[in-house]
Amino acid sequence: MINICDDIYHLTDGRISYAFFVKDGKLVHSYFGKALYVDPSRMNASVLSALKKHSFGFDWLPFEIGETGRGDFRIPSVAVTGEGFASTDFRFVSAEVLDDKPKLNMPSLRGKAETLAVTLKDEVACLELKLYYTLYDGALARHTEIINKADKSVTLSVLDSACTELDIGNYDYISLDGRWGAECGVNRQSVPYGIVTLSSMRGVTSHQHNPFVAVVDKNATEESGEVYGFNLIYSGNFAVNLERDEKSRVRVNIGMKLNGGGISLEPGETLISPELVCVYTDEGVGGMSRIFHKLYRARLIDPRFADLPRPVVVNSWESVYFDFDEAKLKRFISGAKGLGIDTVVLDDGWFGKRDADNCSLGDWVIDRRKLPNGLTAVIDCCKQNGMKFGIWFEPEAVSPDSDLYRAHPDWAIGTAGRKGIEMRNQYVLDFSKPVVVDYIFESMSKILSEHDISYVKWDMNRGISDVTDNKLYVGYVRGVYELYERLSKAFPHVLIEGCSSGGGRFDPAILYYSPMIWSSDDTDAHERTKIQYGLSLCYPLQTLSNHVSVCPNHQTGRTVPLETRGAVASLGSLGYELNVAELSEKDRAIIKKQVAAYKSDRSVILTGDLYRLVSPFETDMFCEEIVSADKKKAYVVAVNTLNKVNLPIGRIKLKGLIEDALYLVEESGEVMSGAELMHFGLQPEFGCDFAANVWHIKKCSKK
Ligand code: GLA
Repeated sequence: MINICDDIYHLTDGRISYAFFVKDGKLVHSYFGKALYVDPSRMNASVLSALKKHSFGFDWLPFEIGETGRGDFRIPSVAVTGEGFASTDFRFVSAEVLDDKPKLNMPSLRGKAETLAVTLKDEVACLELKLYYTLYDGALARHTEIINKADKSVTLSVLDSACTELDIGNYDYISLDGRWGAECGVNRQSVPYGIVTLSSMRGVTSHQHNPFVAVVDKNATEESGEVYGFNLIYSGNFAVNLERDEKSRVRVNIGMKLNGGGISLEPGETLISPELVCVYTDEGVGGMSRIFHKLYRARLIDPRFADLPRPVVVNSWESVYFDFDEAKLKRFISGAKGLGIDTVVLDDGWFGKRDADNCSLGDWVIDRRKLPNGLTAVIDCCKQNGMKFGIWFEPEAVSPDSDLYRAHPDWAIGTAGRKGIEMRNQYVLDFSKPVVVDYIFESMSKILSEHDISYVKWDMNRGISDVTDNKLYVGYVRGVYELYERLSKAFPHVLIEGCSSGGGRFDPAILYYSPMIWSSDDTDAHERTKIQYGLSLCYPLQTLSNHVSVCPNHQTGRTVPLETRGAVASLGSLGYELNVAELSEKDRAIIKKQVAAYKSDRSVILTGDLYRLVSPFETDMFCEEIVSADKKKAYVVAVNTLNKVNLPIGRIKLKGLIEDALYLVEESGEVMSGAELMHFGLQPEFGCDFAANVWHIKKCSKK
């Protein structure tokens, strides 16, 4: 509900409230937190005056936008450069409540929702700014639009999706940082005085920082305390800026990053920012995650796939890499038969003459040397063995050694006069050019329409270099979304798994199209506990694509029991990535059991509430619990690291159950009340290094 009263704008859905007011044409922020009114119509004069308590001062007032050159010396959320004015002065013109959020030209939360649109104008610069506020299920979505109303171009150096001012407090921030093979490490530190920036200038989201931050009260824990979470729905350059001012208020500015010289806006041109999702809870970091998870399942993930069983796949990459032919693939497929696998995914190496990663990207034509009977023979073999077929593409890439590059060298992004930088022996195609997107759509469509393919793994294996104009970065990301849109419309039955050298583009915009994303190229189950734990801070478990791979692990050389590998991978969308044609009978039996158990628990895992019970970042253990929405079932996985003698491990106290209901712990046959499970807990026992305990809990009482 959006209330406008005496120049105060108050948005509430009964769970959160967000308020600001207009003073001398400026938008002054008042409040973001727990709902102020259960019944929003109860807003009264005394509360209104409290919300307007600030006296005026550009230097320290909390604003809805941060500007430059006019006395607000903090980080701006909108800024122009050059042309004789380096300042802006946007003043309120009007506000209206729209029945629905206007369409963004990129992914955003789905579904009709009342939206507050505020228009401001800078009369001197002739720029119009629109701020949009939409409440969805306990979260606030915000985006910004700027229109050049002047008769000359203007250069924008900043256009953030939102400026959020957090009241005086003692805050930590939590960021998800990492590197290739170790994405989304959870880092919690004090918000220091000054400015903290987390950003990507790689043209893609990056392994280094996720477009997420949580600003949390110093005393907030996993399950209690005030937490503000922010996640940007965007897949290109971004910046998260936090500024703690002299009064220990924190300004949070998040948006796409316009590198270097900014971006020019021609007369009449509009630039729309990506959407920022802002979450508030007083139920700790776990409470924040559950809000993000529910919201993304209901309003971000493609409804064709959200909450539906994901196929259990076996992927060829770590099984055979580039080294396969039809006979080998057929053995692989036969090996998968009987394990419960739904889909066989043929990874890199099926096209051009790609025997290594040094050629053929862009040539999406079947390699007849390896597959003389084409993909059809392989797909038929899958069908005969009761499975479906999926295939890998890297649509945005081109190898210098490819027919595509030889025919269209100008389609690769490159600085005029300089040889482009090669990374992983490849260039990036200029997806800001419609002709390039058209060509790739046609070549992918040919493969997809001529074959029975139900699954695509869309990879992207390098950052974007050699760009001199931010318009290319912005246009590039739009081109990626355009291709996703077109493929999703043309092949609605195809599930597209996202991937970028693992989790390098694990962001909400990719999730809008890809209901699951390959979490990391590191498939070691011990390493994965951390990666998956970090990703779960804002992304639902159903979006994490997790595979069981062979041991010793190809990335770390570590050996982890197959049961543990299965248990860790089961906390998401389960798959396998080992040579199923070479499994021992013992391992086949274990995998068969794992897949069957996963399938029976799948709906709880994909749609339940997540409780992170033990953090692998703070202890030598990992434990996650998922509770079904009706609280009738819980699934718990606990994993240790190096085993020790006489280890003092305490019981694990579950969460989210019904206190006075009785539950059966299937593994031990014990019947315990919800209260006993939550307050007394379950005792884990680890008999070896990297061992797992898995508990299936089922309500057995009527009440
Ligand atoms: C990337 C992906 C892997 C695999 C390879 C193929 O590294 O993350 O899963 O698909 O590319 O080249």
